[in-house]
Amino acid sequence: MILVTGGAGFIGGNFVLDWLANPKAEGIINLDKLTYAGNLATLASLEKDSRHIFVHGDIGDRGLVGDLLEKYQPRAIVNFAAESHVDRSIHGPADFVQTNVLGTFNLLESARAYWSQLPAEQKADFRFLHVSTDEVYGSLKAEDPPFSETNPYEPNSPYSASKAASDHLVRAWFHTYGLPVLTTNCSNNYGPYHFPEKLIPLVILNALNGKPLPIYGDGQQIRDWLYVSDHCSAIRRVLEKGKIGETYNVGGWNEKANLDVVKTICSVLDSLKPRADAQSYAEQITFVTDRPGHDRRYAIDARKIERDLQWKPQETFDTGIRKTVQWYLNNPVWVEGVVSGSYREWLQKHYQ
Ligand code: NAD
Ligand code: TYD
Repeated sequence: MILVTGGAGFIGGNFVLDWLANPKAEGIINLDKLTYAGNLATLASLEKDSRHIFVHGDIGDRGLVGDLLEKYQPRAIVNFAAESHVDRSIHGPADFVQTNVLGTFNLLESARAYWSQLPAEQKADFRFLHVSTDEVYGSLKAEDPPFSETNPYEPNSPYSASKAASDHLVRAWFHTYGLPVLTTNCSNNYGPYHFPEKLIPLVILNALNGKPLPIYGDGQQIRDWLYVSDHCSAIRRVLEKGKIGETYNVGGWNEKANLDVVKTICSVLDSLKPRADAQSYAEQITFVTDRPGHDRRYAIDARKIERDLQWKPQETFDTGIRKTVQWYLNNPVWVEGVVSGSYREWLQKHYQ
């Protein structure tokens, strides 16, 4: 078996579904605290699949994690669990330090205690894969080359600082204790089951509900968009073939300005579900106050993972965004489930 943390969230949920779509795959113990971002509806199709064991709990709970490791003897841990939203980290950074820094520390310690007493063969095969972000590298200027694995860490938000801290801990547990770790730093993901506080799902749902499409500042900030199933396949590849102690940057080779992303979503919606008044959804675009400390540009140089592990993304932005918009149109029940009272409170607090 493998232990996945944060597997009720956006990327972890997609990872669990993709993994178990393979009938020969090993089982998964899915440990998730079910914060506002965790959603069991994402995993509803696994209800009768005995290979999926869901455990409600915190990565920082050493007693619980120790018991799970002891009981299920997983051959790997894949750590997705985190507080992941930059805007929330600006409003309230404490949870980010708690889960991303202390939680990762406790998980590393639980993993080390388990790994160090394994028989030699199991010990050699064990992996701790830590999922991180390109935001740890800071912000690029227009003319800078994309982030490579050797870029210095220059995190700018409470979120990216907490992820950078977790990456450093993971690195140190390899160098000091020999824990067989792997780290991936990926760019912005998008796709099915994405909580609609992040740009792409927020814009799709606001557009369909006749609400403003909020663009921070001038909308010329650039992100490198990675379709979530591509990210999941990269993680599987790193888990299978990655060299321990190494980090791998994972990107989509899709650098886009936010305004262009939003305009593309509008034009896909214009063709798939035209507005009743036949106007474009782009009419709803609204420029709002910029995010404090907003990073201007992120871009990933994903040549190392391509060269060393023969992985590259399958989706272009055009194919991935079409699939994503179609998924939200086809899944109103999932959407209805996440657009709860607490989600509406967040929108109220952040946008007004
Ligand atoms: P998400 O916010 O959608 O999901 C996080 C999940 O972790 C939720 O299910 C939540 O309940 C769970 N969780 C939070 N705290 C926990 C704790 N203490 N113990 C156990 N579970 C806990 O996040 P995501 O977008 O799926 O991101 C997953 C990982 O990928 C994160 O580590 C994030 O930093 C990283 N990442 C995300 C992106 C992106 O674009 N979404 C890009 C780069 C890296
Ligand atoms: P987001 O999805 O929050 O991811 P991140 O901050 O981790 O990159 O935001 C993606 C980009 O979209 C980022 O530059 C901020 C911008 N953005 C808006 O312009 N309006 C919004 O309402 C949101 C949520 C984000």
